[in-house]
Amino acid sequence: MKNERYPRSGRYSGRWMVDGVMGPNAVWQAEALGEVIPLEAGMRVLDLGCGTALSSIFLAKEFGVEVWATDLWVKPDENWGRIVDAGVEGQVHPVSAEAHELPFADGFFDAAISIGAYHYFGTDDLYLGYFSRFLKPGGWIGIVQPGLAEECPSYPPAGLEEYWHWDFCAWHSPDWWRRHWEKTGLVTVDLADRLAEGWRDWLHWNEVCDRDSEAPQWEADMLRTDAGRLLGFTRVVARRNPE
Ligand SMILES: C[S@@+](CC[C@H](N)C(=O)[O-])C[C@H]1O[C@@H](n2cnc3c(N)ncnc32)[C@H](O)[C@@H]1O
Repeated sequence: MKNERYPRSGRYSGRWMVDGVMGPNAVWQAEALGEVIPLEAGMRVLDLGCGTALSSIFLAKEFGVEVWATDLWVKPDENWGRIVDAGVEGQVHPVSAEAHELPFADGFFDAAISIGAYHYFGTDDLYLGYFSRFLKPGGWIGIVQPGLAEECPSYPPAGLEEYWHWDFCAWHSPDWWRRHWEKTGLVTVDLADRLAEGWRDWLHWNEVCDRDSEAPQWEADMLRTDAGRLLGFTRVVARRNPE
């Protein structure tokens, strides 16, 4: 599980990452956000859609930030065990919440991140207005999730028909996300890009996880077929504008 693009992640157990799998390696993706968001010790960070909280634990350990590990499907009892095992019980707080009913005060967070999750709720034009209010003015928002190199002229994309699920329609290009956020005027988008070699990392991750699983390996087949032409990870980083 060593990856030259993510040296900090190499200090964490591959078994721990695979046991906490909910998407294509939240730890690598958290490191990709930590490269571009200036996280400092003591900052308050919302990790929305944290799943098994691997990204929350990683950010707390690597950057000394305090993280509210917030998720819908994975409950706090389960994440608390992982948080205690990692020795960050003073820094990572597990929270059960739906993305539209967040139990936080306006302006509470210095940064809010979301890995492999924001596309489940954030493609709504109006969602950023709700989400960004939990940040201080100037606070950082960073997301990474499956995405496309460019929007497709038609769906399913040519060549990927046999693999395509309808809900992949929420996967978008960096340019799509930039426009989606900039048109609100609520944030300044600093960066909207594709993670370098993202599709190779995604495929590598799937190949490792598939060794542990009886499940069909269609996702790895899809990534091999596409070979990075369309599929990868979209990363977007912005700051909340002053009112
Ligand atoms: C594919 S998993 C990714 C989890 C983790 N961030 C990772 O990368 O391993 C998507 C996560 O989004 C969360 N999620 C989806 N819809 C949500 C919603 N409406 N409110 C809060 N969380 C949501 C789920 O609970 C789930 O843990």
